[in-house]
Amino acid sequence: MFDKTQVSIIGGGLMGCGIAQVFASSGIDVCIYEPIEAARAQIKSRVCDNLVSIGRSASIAERISIKDDLFQAVKEADFVFEAAPEKIEIKRSIFSSLIKLVRKDCILASNTSVIPISDIADGFNFTGRIVGTHWWNPPYLVPLVEVVRSNQTSLETINQMMALLEHVGKKPAYIEKDVAGFVGNRLQHALWREAIALVNDGVCSAETLDDVVKNSFGLRLPVLGPIENADLVGLDLTLDIHNVILRNLNRDVMPSAILQEKVDRGELGMKTQRGLLTWTDESAAGVRRRLARHLVSVTANLRD
Ligand SMILES: NC(=O)c1ccc[n+]([C@@H]2O[C@H](COP(=O)([O-])OP(=O)(O)OC[C@H]3O[C@@H](n4cnc5c(N)ncnc54)[C@H](O)[C@@H]3O)[C@@H](O)[C@H]2O)c1
Repeated sequence: MFDKTQVSIIGGGLMGCGIAQVFASSGIDVCIYEPIEAARAQIKSRVCDNLVSIGRSASIAERISIKDDLFQAVKEADFVFEAAPEKIEIKRSIFSSLIKLVRKDCILASNTSVIPISDIADGFNFTGRIVGTHWWNPPYLVPLVEVVRSNQTSLETINQMMALLEHVGKKPAYIEKDVAGFVGNRLQHALWREAIALVNDGVCSAETLDDVVKNSFGLRLPVLGPIENADLVGLDLTLDIHNVILRNLNRDVMPSAILQEKVDRGELGMKTQRGLLTWTDESAAGVRRRLARHLVSVTANLRD
């Protein structure tokens, strides 16, 4: 069904390369549009390294072509995935160009992490064919893609996107309402807000906070979702707990002061060796290796 499908990706950075790799690995031709020369130069080696790291042949990357001209990149596309920087002005400018350049039956998807799809598509024609597809890093290892329906997206578009993603081995999750952050990032950042607040308030050190998560409920999450867990412990106990805890949880509507101060000081995390924790190149590489090994092993188990 998707043998002759053409996929185009807008933005050949971390996510664009990973998404391209997924389609190329399933035998689908992919074209990446990347406007920055230095980024274009890295695409092939980035994809080849990622393929080799998971035991796949680097020759799969031959199905990926790279263009610096948007029209040339998208004119034949059946599906376009935008993976440009997380700024609404950039995304709206890209979609406003795409609408004029693609075929009328082409489906346009944004990989935004948190911006509502209706905000990106607001005021454009073509909105029935604009959809959110929120992939997770690295796209070639994490199975889930949230497929987000805006108030304009047609059901036909949702169905075609779900079918394409299933065809390439992903686990698409249909998100029926276009809320900021969709489902995954709302859950993830509710946890991060509380985590940063607990460290900021001196309740525990940053290292201890991660130890608590990794050695307790974090262990259960791959096999027990929060809804299953609530039913497992019993809704009566869940109610008793919520009666005490909810009013004590952090409810700040702006980012934590500690986060703003660190960003202002240029302490951005692993890339500057200082963030909420202190890093060396070696310790940062160790975390990335550990994560890749873990994802390869758990996703292999999920496939069994
Ligand atoms: N990094 C993640 O873990 C992650 C996960 C899920 C979703 N996302 C989302 O995916 C998108 C891309 O994130 P990323 O981490 O790959 O960023 P990135 O910075 O690695 O890549 C973005 C690429 O877009 C290119 N670009 C800049 N301006 C452009 C334009 N006008 N048109 C086309 N391309 C342009 C850049 O040169 C760069 O190569 C963002 O919306 C981000 O929120 C990221």
